[in-house]
Order: sequence, then C-alpha cells, then structure tokens
Amino acid sequence: MNLATRYLGLPLAHPIVASASPLSATFYTELGSNSQAEAGSYFPELADYDCGISGYLETLESASSALDIPVIASLNGTTAEGWTGHARALEQAGAAAIELNIYSIPIDLAVSGAELERRYVEIVRQVRSTVRIPITVKLAPYFTSLPHLAAELVAAGADGLVLFNRFYAPDIDLQTLRVTRSLPLSTAAELPLSLVWIALLSRRLGCSLAASRGVESAVEVIKYLLVGADVVTTASALLRNGPQHLATMREGLERWLDTNHYDSVDAIRGLKDATHVEHVDALIRAQYVSALIEYVPGKLVQ
Ligand SMILES: Cc1cc2nc3c(=O)[nH]c(=O)nc-3n(C[C@H](O)[C@H](O)[C@H](O)COP(=O)(O)O)c2cc1C
Repeated sequence: MNLATRYLGLPLAHPIVASASPLSATFYTELGSNSQAEAGSYFPELADYDCGISGYLETLESASSALDIPVIASLNGTTAEGWTGHARALEQAGAAAIELNIYSIPIDLAVSGAELERRYVEIVRQVRSTVRIPITVKLAPYFTSLPHLAAELVAAGADGLVLFNRFYAPDIDLQTLRVTRSLPLSTAAELPLSLVWIALLSRRLGCSLAASRGVESAVEVIKYLLVGADVVTTASALLRNGPQHLATMREGLERWLDTNHYDSVDAIRGLKDATHVEHVDALIRAQYVSALIEYVPGKLVQ
C-alpha cells in the first residue's frame, strides 16, 4: 500500500501531519504522557508553551536534526520586521518549510476587508522574498471571497494553504463575572467547513492544500483526501488521545484503502472535489456534505 504524498514539494511517507499545538512545541516524550485522555478542552500553560523565539529556535534546531521527517515551523508575527526576521531565523534553524499563521482581528472601524487582505498578501510577499524554503499560509475561514484571497496569496508566493485554524473561545464566568478563555478540543462536527472549502479549491490554485479541523479518526482523514487535501493535519485528537493516535489513524487509512481496493493515497485524492462532482451548485449549497457522507459509508474503519 502506497501512502506516500507530497506537501509543499516535500515527500512524506503518509498524509497525516501533527499540527501546531503544545504537543509539537517540544519533542520530549514526556509531553505525550501528559496529554489528557478524554479531555474536553485544553488550557495551555502559557508560560511553558510560549518559550519565546530563542527557545523555539532551539527546539526547532534539535527536532530538525534528530527527526527524519520534515519539521515545518509555525510563525505568527506582528510587524513586517518580525515576520521577515523570524522567518529568516527559522530557515537558518533548519525548518523544512514555514507555516505563516496570519490572523489579525479586524476591530478598527476604518479598515476594510480589501485593506486587511492586502496586508495578508504583503506579509506573504515579504516572507517569500526573505527565505528560500517553502511557505504555507494558515487561514481563518472568515473572508468574504476566500477563493480570491487564496489566489492572491499563491500569486504572492505561498506554496500552500492550511484550511482552517481554530481560535480561543472567550466566555464569561457568571460566578466571578470574569472573562475566561479556553481552547476547546475539536470534534468531527467541525469538519464540513474545511471539507467544503478544500473541495471547492482543489486543483484550482496550483498550490498544496492542507486540511485542518475536526479530525478525530481515519474517517475524517479519508474524507479530506477525497475532496483533494494533500495532507490532513490534526491537533485536538492527538492532545485527547496521545501522539500514538496518529499511528492508529494511519492504520485505519491503510485498512480502508485496502478494503476498497485502492492501492495508494493518490488513487483517492480529489475523487470527490468540485471538479469531479456532477452538480457543483449542490456543493455550494452544502447539500454536498450530506451527499459525501452517504458516499463514505459509516462503517469505514475500526
Ligand atoms: C491547545 C491548542 C493549541 C494550539 N496552538 C496553535 C498555535 O500555536 N499555532 C497555530 O497555528 N495553531 C495552533 N492550534 C491550532 C491547531 O494547530 C489546529 O489548526 C486546530 O486545532 C484545528 O485542528 P484540530 O481540529 O485537529 O484540533 C492549537 C490548537 C490547540 C487545540
């Protein structure tokens, strides 16, 4: 069975990627045993998690030389110098690629959507002219015309897109009246948004696509591959079940391909993307999602 794939031009043995989370903030094995079984949300110990740029570079350097898989660095800058300076440092520390986690909350009444998107594109252009390694952009889903922005980001030099990021959930504690925040772990209920957008953008941008959100098991991995994802990333499931869950997902993928007589991941990639489904209007109305669920039987794996 050939599970091999490519992402950002990097050859990978299989398409399941651990995405940015406290688990990948260090590569010491103890963190795995700290991950909370059955946890419903995760409250990062920010002091431990955010080790600053020098700690991050040290971790990246050690991980890149110790591991035989590509290590993609995650970068969230604020100023132009921050984006480019840190990108250069990440490249020098051995990153195989850089994921730009661009998220600016539009709270200024005077800033238009077009202006905000122009800033995103400018960040990509500047980082592109600074580093030689591939760059990918992790996006939030909140854009009025995601296809247009995606095309602009690719034209500015993005080699890939990650759809989509998740964010802290603010809440109010009614006993103390304090504003709290947590990062609830995702479930497969979050799948449809990323699923539809990967399906709609697959093969149209000339860049890699990484699916992010709602991967609980091999079932979600297979669905994302069917709509055209080059890789499927997962954070919540690994925090909930521990890093070894990645192997369980990979085995489930392999078993499903085998049972359904496919000999590779390439054989199913994009089979159900928007260029292959008969009624794209159904896709846009999202009825497609239920059609897709019918196509992929519930008893896929395990
Ligand atoms: C506890 C936690 C911390 C995260 N930290 C980051 C981060 O620092 N940078 C980032 O780009 N994404 C971060 N993410 C988002 C994940 O990488 C991922 O994109 C998102 O959780 C959706 O995937 P999932 O449904 O598999 O969790 C974090 C997610 C969780 C749950």
